[in-house]
Amino acid sequence: MKKCGNSLFGNHDETTMNISRRTWLKGLSSLPALGAAASHAQTKTAVLGFTPIGPSDADAVRVPEGYAAQLLYGWGDATGIAPKPPENPRPAPLFKQDGSGSAADAALQAGMHHDGMHFFPIDGSSTHGLLAMNHEYTDEGLLHRAGAPYDREAVTKSQNSHGLSVIEVKLVGKEWQVVRPSRYARRVTAATPMRVAGPLAGHAVMKTSEDPSGARVLGTVNNCANGYTPWGTYLTCEENWYANFGTDDAAFKPTAMQARYSVKARASYAWHRVEARFDVAREPNEVHRFGWVVEVDPYDANSTPVKRTALGRFIHEGAALSLMPDGALAYYMGDDAVFEYVYKFVARDKFDKANPASGRNLLDHGTLYAAKFSGDGWAGGAGEWLELTHGKHGLTAANGFPSQAEVLLYARHAAEIAGATKMDRPEWCAVQPGTRDVCVALTNNSARGRDGFPRGEGPNAANPRNENLFGHVIRLRERNADVSATTFAWEFVALGGDPNLPNEARRSRFRPGQKGDAFGSPDGLHFDARGILWVQTDLSPRGLNQGEYAGLGNNQMLAVDPISGEFKRFLTAPRGAEVTGCNITPDGTTLFVNIQHPGEGQASNWPDGPGMKPRSATLAIRRVDGGLIGA
Ligand code: FEO
Ligand code: CA
Ligand code: CA
Ligand code: CA
Repeated sequence: MKKCGNSLFGNHDETTMNISRRTWLKGLSSLPALGAAASHAQTKTAVLGFTPIGPSDADAVRVPEGYAAQLLYGWGDATGIAPKPPENPRPAPLFKQDGSGSAADAALQAGMHHDGMHFFPIDGSSTHGLLAMNHEYTDEGLLHRAGAPYDREAVTKSQNSHGLSVIEVKLVGKEWQVVRPSRYARRVTAATPMRVAGPLAGHAVMKTSEDPSGARVLGTVNNCANGYTPWGTYLTCEENWYANFGTDDAAFKPTAMQARYSVKARASYAWHRVEARFDVAREPNEVHRFGWVVEVDPYDANSTPVKRTALGRFIHEGAALSLMPDGALAYYMGDDAVFEYVYKFVARDKFDKANPASGRNLLDHGTLYAAKFSGDGWAGGAGEWLELTHGKHGLTAANGFPSQAEVLLYARHAAEIAGATKMDRPEWCAVQPGTRDVCVALTNNSARGRDGFPRGEGPNAANPRNENLFGHVIRLRERNADVSATTFAWEFVALGGDPNLPNEARRSRFRPGQKGDAFGSPDGLHFDARGILWVQTDLSPRGLNQGEYAGLGNNQMLAVDPISGEFKRFLTAPRGAEVTGCNITPDGTTLFVNIQHPGEGQASNWPDGPGMKPRSATLAIRRVDGGLIGA
């Protein structure tokens, strides 16, 4: 492993820190007066220098004047994995529009549906590094040749199009390039051998007929958002993994805990017809081996990824690092489903910067918590972290938790028993540099308040709207900004919506004195080193530009000014796409962003133009004058 340069916690100049401290920090520290910008005259100067763009329904990526977005790495592009004759003689198999590319080709190419992403500098550089990125899922209709049999080759191609990429990238002149071949280039897929670590490693519930050790798993799937570690590794989070499992066994009935994790006979894929481990009736423990945070060393293409079970098993969106100066650290994590929870994992041990190897097993020991919110998110809310430890908060054998292993395996159920707050689909969390404030995106929940919806309920403190179509963003602050605190303050950052809608519950709402461009379904969140919060949206593609969503246009990315609190639209996506994955080089001059699922529910030929299949892709965005992004 190699210590990476660090975009979030490195090298803030004093100005940056002053900006973040005197605004967002003051907001929460002056509870209940949270309208930070409005009450501090000296903080009126905006830090966002770009002119926001309008909503768009174009099949194109739009960015503000003075910026250029370059297509860097699209589905099917070669990773740069070096040829290894004879089994893999071709360095760069070409993407085939008709779906005739082979499974072997797919293992050397970008997977589908780019999502979370992190830039790992090489030797601290901002112009040369590695991009690790997730490929969340596959669209089987786009992936395969029309009419082709769904056989072993097709399933392997699908599996090879899941997982993640590591690519080497370099800025040459004004253009980023993928370095090919590269000794770093790698695809991790649904078939890559991995190790299980932490409390579930070797546990009886992890053993399968192929793996009697219960500690070796093949692959990772539905890798949604991400995280990274201060010791230079990437974290990829397994989200809707249940969709890859199914069975044709008519007698199969999900157990209560399988149902709690949406495991059912009808899968979104048909992998179980070809590979028995994905058949939940034949190999019921295999589902226990998915739903984890997986650690990958991007600097070593031969390293074995590790599933870190101490962080709990759920529908993992992402894992946002909060690091204290003394090396204490926590990860904030969402479980993206309606009425699920926000979690925090606090590592038992501290990371020693002088000894990067101290991170090696650091994620195997710690405490998992789920969040409980109360109070008023406009005037000042209070929160509590409920410890998910066996024997506490009703997590006993009598309630179905014989040991800590079951608490982690069924973390969702544990959080529910403990009394955590049911949220409106927690997506990304992001931690503000310096203040360690945590923002959380609650993307939407049309089922809130809907009669008859299982586990449904009406509004609560942190989720104030029935039929929450547009979602919201909250911010919380740990007591004493300590990652191990068990209480916190919190507030709303903004509620999504369209200010022009007649129904007040569908209108956006900002903090007093603040305003912004209309947005809905916040999903990706990222704080940059200047304290700007970047918000990426994922409105359901089928609803885009229609009905109550008509005024919002295509999905978008906004920058939130840490001084004025204003939301400014920075990028609009092609038709049907969401915007996700966000990382800025340490020097602040290149922004990497992913465009996912263009053409979903809408006609799109992005990025290749008329007649071509739409492809998810990574963009490298720079200012034409090479200046700081957003400034
Ligand atoms: Fe994969 Fe919750 O987004
Ligand atoms: Ca997401
Ligand atoms: Ca999505
Ligand atoms: Ca989403």
